[in-house]
Amino acid sequence: MKLSTLSSTAILISLASTPAFSQAKPSTNIPHLERHGTATQLIVDGKPFLVLGAELNNSSASSMEYLRPLWSKIAATNLNTVLATVSWELMEPEEGRFDFSLVDGLIQDARRYNQRLIMLWFGSWKNGKSTYQPVWVKTNQQRFPIIQDEKGKGLATLTTLSNANRDADAHAFAALMKHIRELDGDAHTVIMMQVENEVGALGPSRDHSPVANQAFAGPVPKEFMDYLQKHKDTLIPELRKRWEAAGFKTSGSWEEVFGAGVETDEIFMAWNYARYVGYVAAAGKAEYPLPMFVNTWLRQGKFKPNEDMPGGYPSGGPLPQVMDAWRAGAPAIDILSPDVHVPNYQEWCAWYTQSGNPLFIPESRGDAKGVAWAFATAGKYDGIGYSPFGIDRLASPDSELGKGYQVLSQVGPLILERQGLGKVTAVLVDADAPRSKVRLGDYMIEARFARRSQDPNAPIAAPVDQVAGLFIQLGPDDYVIVGRSMSVYFETATDATESVGLATVEEGQYVDGRWVPGRRLNGDETPEWKALWFPGDRYTIQKIKLYRYR
Ligand code: DGJ
Repeated sequence: MKLSTLSSTAILISLASTPAFSQAKPSTNIPHLERHGTATQLIVDGKPFLVLGAELNNSSASSMEYLRPLWSKIAATNLNTVLATVSWELMEPEEGRFDFSLVDGLIQDARRYNQRLIMLWFGSWKNGKSTYQPVWVKTNQQRFPIIQDEKGKGLATLTTLSNANRDADAHAFAALMKHIRELDGDAHTVIMMQVENEVGALGPSRDHSPVANQAFAGPVPKEFMDYLQKHKDTLIPELRKRWEAAGFKTSGSWEEVFGAGVETDEIFMAWNYARYVGYVAAAGKAEYPLPMFVNTWLRQGKFKPNEDMPGGYPSGGPLPQVMDAWRAGAPAIDILSPDVHVPNYQEWCAWYTQSGNPLFIPESRGDAKGVAWAFATAGKYDGIGYSPFGIDRLASPDSELGKGYQVLSQVGPLILERQGLGKVTAVLVDADAPRSKVRLGDYMIEARFARRSQDPNAPIAAPVDQVAGLFIQLGPDDYVIVGRSMSVYFETATDATESVGLATVEEGQYVDGRWVPGRRLNGDETPEWKALWFPGDRYTIQKIKLYRYR
């Protein structure tokens, strides 16, 4: 693709200006985010909501016929939320003519199967490229300019540095949000919006089009400088270090303020993507202010060395090292989300919960390990929810996902009541890190990964790689523990002279929020008469009371 000569009218660089959208009258009880202790929760119909989601393949929501046989399988997989694409090209096939039939079909069918929806706005960008913009945008590079690489070659990626690009996208997204409000403003089938998909420049570490070169040589915008100064002590360490190394300047060009290098290119790109995406989100929120998030193609590190540098992964996406540029540039974006397709899940969760960012995982895996990650997201990281990618393939009640979500949906309300209050936590254990101990209340709780059952009655199970232990505190000595392929041990956290015993152990289920006990466990089912045993074939729930003796 070749960049056409840019006319001066095509590019109006005023991206620093604040969008002047009229605020639509907020409906009383629309889905929103709310603080709960130290956590941020998604509130739907007045109650905290844990997203047990999964994402459809990219093209699935372009045909309601294609989706029809999938819906019942999705519902049987115990999901409560489907993440589905809304594609700009299908929604605005001709400029100004909107076709919402797919959006309407999605909402109707989701309701029929008791599912909520998170809509993914595939607008200007999808995975660092521009392929979902309508043909009238794609084929008019004069009006809708694209990124250029170092040699001046045009890439199939709209540039952030064009008001024409931004305004066309914002206009369409606002129309979508207005339509959702009109259709769904009372029922709240749609609970959140993802704005764009895995943005950032792939290939060069920054846009080298003439207008981008000019912006890069120009001053760091005052809004960003002000943000850096105001948040100097709480900036993400990587960004702060670059600013510090260049002398904590309060003005100057991008290279003067952050030094030369691809890291600075990435900061520049992040600011410009944030301004653009934040503008689009604000235009949508002015019509209907649902919570909005962006998702991130992560740096792959040692897992894929060729995707370890900006440009190898999309440069300018909301990665941890440039989170502050996103926070400063896109205040309308509520959540910066990682798409975790790499093994070091806990590291990414820790990075994405910095500076109070709520954790929502829009894409990840849906196997046994994915289920363990879903438990950890909700229990350890106070997360809003989890969603593996590719429900088309994963949907089945007997799948790991279906079985895992069934148990997670039982204990979801208990988790939500305790998030942010220090009364719920989780650990992940596997063959490499088989033991993990945490304090909850006045007890230390240790999960020990064990592939072989100590319970003579436990079904023989295929080994799983990694499992979660979920610990929920009900009272000073009362806990609900959820686990699989593990034993769980207790110690006092307050008085080392005391030993801890199991007063009572029940296995059971929560049915409509009420505990329904099954077996009373003791003897061989409680190893060493002091620990819990969780069989390997699925997650099970035990409700216990502890006591102390000396
Ligand atoms: C990441 C993208 O965001 C998704 O849309 C999808 O293409 C997956 N990769 C495929 O694994």
